[in-house]
Amino acid sequence: MTKIGILTGGGDCPGLNAVIRAVVKTAENEYGWEVLGIEDGYDGLFDASKVRRLTALDVRGILPRGGTILGTANRGNPFARKIERDGQTVIYDASQEALGRIEELDLAALIVVGGDGTLRSAYELYQLGAPIVGVPKTIDNDIAATDVTFGFDTALVAASEAVDKLHTTAESHHRVMVVEVMGRTAGWIALHAGISGGADVVVIPEISFDIRKICAKIEHRCAHGLKFSIIVVAEGASPIGGEPVYISRGDVIHQARLGGMAAQIAEQITQSCGLETRVTVLGHVQRGGSPTPFDRIIGSRFGEAAVHAAASGALGRMMALHGTKIEHVTLAEAVGEIKLVPPDGQLVRTARSLGISLG
Ligand code: F6P
Repeated sequence: MTKIGILTGGGDCPGLNAVIRAVVKTAENEYGWEVLGIEDGYDGLFDASKVRRLTALDVRGILPRGGTILGTANRGNPFARKIERDGQTVIYDASQEALGRIEELDLAALIVVGGDGTLRSAYELYQLGAPIVGVPKTIDNDIAATDVTFGFDTALVAASEAVDKLHTTAESHHRVMVVEVMGRTAGWIALHAGISGGADVVVIPEISFDIRKICAKIEHRCAHGLKFSIIVVAEGASPIGGEPVYISRGDVIHQARLGGMAAQIAEQITQSCGLETRVTVLGHVQRGGSPTPFDRIIGSRFGEAAVHAAASGALGRMMALHGTKIEHVTLAEAVGEIKLVPPDGQLVRTARSLGISLG
């Protein structure tokens, strides 16, 4: 019987289970194939106890569940694998070992569901001969080759609801509320949440901000009797001539961690405008919980399409939403470019026309 594998890598996001479920159901219903679930991202390739058969029974009831039933790891790059050996931490290139395991498992295709880092490793494995089919996921929505990634919509609902909630308490206390959202180097979550939640200021990584402009906006509102303001800050934002705030810089294993810009902006507002500020960092709340119907549908469609791609021999390709159609692009295209908010694009223009300051 033909066997295919599936793994989920990188940070989790709502909708991963929809992909897993669709892969298992399509493989069984359409082709009579067996599916092996590989746990904890690429790590599962190196540990036989982390590979298990997935049947329709295993994926029953998982559609509304956030996270991934397979587990994930965002440190599992097979080209820079970290292990403990003789009490020492060793980093080595385990790509040949990974290829060997894929062969041993006799996989006709390995469906890799991941963001930029996971798909980059998938592409490199494909170049070495692994039968990879990619599926894009990330709340950051920063993969250029697809119009949208699943997870983004659910994250946006969380961010947008937070902005709504902050409005009422900001108004009651005449405060400036600064909310920090995720997105890494892309401002998609911040800008969408700012527009949908009616924020007064949105700062995104793609447009460096000037704190004086932010203060001017707040003071202008105060002068018109609006003694509260809502500021949405993307975690990767930076001031003109400055840098984003890092929790840690990252290295060959770990990605850089961003966070803290909202607190800096709030402090500067208090000092310059003399207004009371409060900071909310939404953090991983944006990645958790049940996927929205949109994310369930995109996840299901990507999962289904990935199995058909494997069946037609379309290896080395990544599923992508183009308009209303699911198509596939080469993994090379998929990992070529990060999708950032165009500073002179329509979305920024909409925000500005609505009176939102971009700092
Ligand atoms: O890429 C998804 C994402 O949630 C980013 O928005 C965020 O910067 C990062 O992952 C957080 O990663 P971790 O889960 O390792 O803290």
